[in-house]
Amino acid sequence: MGKQIAIDGPAGAGKSTIAKLLSKEKGFIYVDTGAMYRAIALFLLEKGVDVDDEEAVKNVLPEADVRLQFIEGKQCVLLNEKDVTDCLRTEEVGNTASKVSAYPPVRECLAGLQRRAAEENDVVMDGRDIGTVILPNAPLKVFLTASVSVRAKRRFLELSEKGEECDIKKIEADIRERDKRDMTRETAPLVKAEDAILLDSSDMSIDEVVSRLQELCRERGL
Ligand code: DC
Repeated sequence: MGKQIAIDGPAGAGKSTIAKLLSKEKGFIYVDTGAMYRAIALFLLEKGVDVDDEEAVKNVLPEADVRLQFIEGKQCVLLNEKDVTDCLRTEEVGNTASKVSAYPPVRECLAGLQRRAAEENDVVMDGRDIGTVILPNAPLKVFLTASVSVRAKRRFLELSEKGEECDIKKIEADIRERDKRDMTRETAPLVKAEDAILLDSSDMSIDEVVSRLQELCRERGL
């Protein structure tokens, strides 16, 4: 078993930015579990499966082969042997991932892959259920959050920088809907693990959050 840092939290809290920086500094692999759910979502969208139909989703899951590859510490997601890493960050794929991640067969299909990545590497892993379900013995668990308006603003800037047209009100509404779905689903809902450190990044810079995490790592001998 490698060293483990688990970061959970809602969409747009800055998990991936922070996890990427921290993993680089520690020389750990960054495992973005959201990207794996997004790969399943992309598969379902491309196949035209009705994602509101759990049975239909379950039936086609065996056809989706999701794998992770780490090239110079960077995670690539392979879907049926094709590198789909750059196709995963759209709003449509994210919202679909949130929907289908509530289905237990989808979660089962990815949980083993995530645990294996943590067995074979030192990891910073982010997601929604890492500290609660996937790596319950991680010596450092962080629940990273921020207010809805701050998260919507960050997402708006990210999309605008990419030249994508977007509406902040719609982004905010999507975030609220996604939070509700991720937090109220029956299987592995987004909740703070009892032993996780709560960090609200609304008024913190990226550097401040990373420094705080480094401090926590030092305290835990990571
Ligand atoms: O972190 P993200 O926005 O890329 O994740 C997309 C969706 O995938 C998110 O809304 C919920 C789901 N997800 C999950 O259920 N469990 C995880 N460990 C990671 C993501």
